[in-house]
Amino acid sequence: MIGLKKLYGVIGDPIVHSLSPAMHNKEFKELGIDAYYHPFRIEGKDLKTAVEGMKVIGIDGFNVTIPHKTAIIPLLDKIDPLAGAIGAVNTVVRENGLFVGYNTDGAGFVESLKEDWKKDLAGERTLIIGAGGAAKAIYYTLLSIGVQRVDIANRTIQKAEALISGQPYDADSKALILEEAEAKIGEYSLIIQTASIGMAPELNKSPISLKGISASAFVSDIIYNPAETMFLKQARQKGAKTQNGLGMLVYQGALAFEKWTNVKPDAARMKRTLTNILGGSPC
Ligand code: ATR
Repeated sequence: MIGLKKLYGVIGDPIVHSLSPAMHNKEFKELGIDAYYHPFRIEGKDLKTAVEGMKVIGIDGFNVTIPHKTAIIPLLDKIDPLAGAIGAVNTVVRENGLFVGYNTDGAGFVESLKEDWKKDLAGERTLIIGAGGAAKAIYYTLLSIGVQRVDIANRTIQKAEALISGQPYDADSKALILEEAEAKIGEYSLIIQTASIGMAPELNKSPISLKGISASAFVSDIIYNPAETMFLKQARQKGAKTQNGLGMLVYQGALAFEKWTNVKPDAARMKRTLTNILGGSPC
């Protein structure tokens, strides 16, 4: 007897450039899981109807991307506490008929960091650059796993201050303007770049100069296209270890995949799938 194919997907607007369908469908195939992952372009005005529709037609889980990560929260049956604190959901899982919202962006980042840096993160003096949605997911997740000393630098300092004052952990964080971060960059052993700067057409732009970094620092940029931003190039030239955002993309997907199927996917293979699509070598 043929079983019922499981259906997954991603909702967002725009959605045509999402790499998630290729990544998940390849993994379903490799693991012999009878499932299909489809991209759905859903406009904001249709979000409620779309979520209700997905419930009714029996979708087993889906990812949520821009611009719906926050707006979807009141439309779900249950929210995981960390996703609730972050105020954004990127993964929905059907559990006993209910849609439960999770955030695997921050945890995906941490997984990729552990893979590439192999350090106990707790004691690291950390700087996050940027104070948008991605920064918030990473900041809260780092605090939730006990990383204590995380500062945030942002062009608009009020947004960094708001992230810090809103955090529900007992963290010792400071908000910095970009110039201040640049001046004391040598004090940080972990530097995480989350600002949307350094992509085409502004490939030669960086939020700050890394002239003063320590050669033993680890520098992460969550951008993955280009594979090496100016920011990462400068870090590498200073002798620092670097990673781009491909690992975060892979692991946020791998964590979602595991929640949906209870099967741990092959993250290295998922990364190769993405690297092939992007046409470069993994960084
Ligand atoms: P995401 O969800 O990817 O984090 P976002 O919420 O729009 O995106 O946040 C974008 C971040 O990039 C913000 O921290 C933004 O700084 P502001 O808060 O000052 O707007 C930062 N950013 C974008 N362009 C920048 C630039 N040219 N220089 C420095 N920071 C920049």
